[in-house]
Amino acid sequence: MPFPYERLRRLRGCDGIRRMVRETRLSPDDLVLPLFVRSGKGEKEPVESMPGVWRASPDVAVELAEEAHELGVPAVLLFGVPDLRDEAASAAVDPDGVVPCAVAALRRRLKDLVVIADVCLCAYTDHGHCGVVRDGVVENDESLNLLERVAVNFAGAGADIVAPSDMMDGRVAAVRDALDEEEMEEVLVMSYSAKYASAFYGPFREAADSSPSSGDKRGYQMDPSNVREAMREIALDIEEGADIVMVKPALSYLDVIRAARDRFDHPIAAYSVSGEYSMLKAAAAAGWLDERACALEILTGIRRAGADLVITYWATEAARWLKEG
Ligand code: PBG
Repeated sequence: MPFPYERLRRLRGCDGIRRMVRETRLSPDDLVLPLFVRSGKGEKEPVESMPGVWRASPDVAVELAEEAHELGVPAVLLFGVPDLRDEAASAAVDPDGVVPCAVAALRRRLKDLVVIADVCLCAYTDHGHCGVVRDGVVENDESLNLLERVAVNFAGAGADIVAPSDMMDGRVAAVRDALDEEEMEEVLVMSYSAKYASAFYGPFREAADSSPSSGDKRGYQMDPSNVREAMREIALDIEEGADIVMVKPALSYLDVIRAARDRFDHPIAAYSVSGEYSMLKAAAAAGWLDERACALEILTGIRRAGADLVITYWATEAARWLKEG
């Protein structure tokens, strides 16, 4: 029935009607807060390109997590910023490393918080690549063994979920098997399944000091032009035992999230990455955009595209905005 009988504006006439017909809802339940953890005590070092993000010592990480958790955010995702980087990524397999220490501190203080630990080598290696490098080549199969040990190390410290972000082939099965062998069957694997070689990781690499010293990551991270290949990556990770699959970044890849949602029944996480955060922070600081309205619009858009979970540096602020209404 066309106009003048059909008038879609009737559905937008007042806040109550709009709330009744709203198709997508954003809740603190959907959000995951990433945290960068470093050594020390009482340390809260600002990341210049990411206002509102810090490299925090474990005690401060607990405070940041507690603030988010009290506002209803169920989970944090930990990235280690170690003191030592070497070829063997030794700090990643150290049971007294920054991530195990932070995991243990969070476990002690916040019993119900879901603790996710990112599993990768780039922040721990002197070359900044996500795998083992031999003669300038990132070696796939050799990296798996090390990644397994990192996952077991973080899970052993009490992480509920390990999240491999390296994009080596076969790493989900390798990590799953290693966890099961250690009788850690209850630990989940959240896989960065479709992780693109994105320029939007720039500010993160400042935060984690993880820029590759030579070359780039296009030999293992995905080409931004591809969506069918992302479906193959996700299907393989599911076959290998991933409990949650991820698309990353989020904002430039909403079609990938939608395609994944239409095809797979597994929970889908989307990572709204550092560059997505920094560009809006910068525009808001210049007075060009309304940060709160734009951030909530971005996060809602990612949910509307089909993501169940959104990993976002806005998690705490967004949870507060949602609470305020
Ligand atoms: C490391 C990793 C990166 C991010 C998450 N894990 C960077 C990279 O691959 O170089 C980026 C996250 C962000 O930009 O917020 N494997």
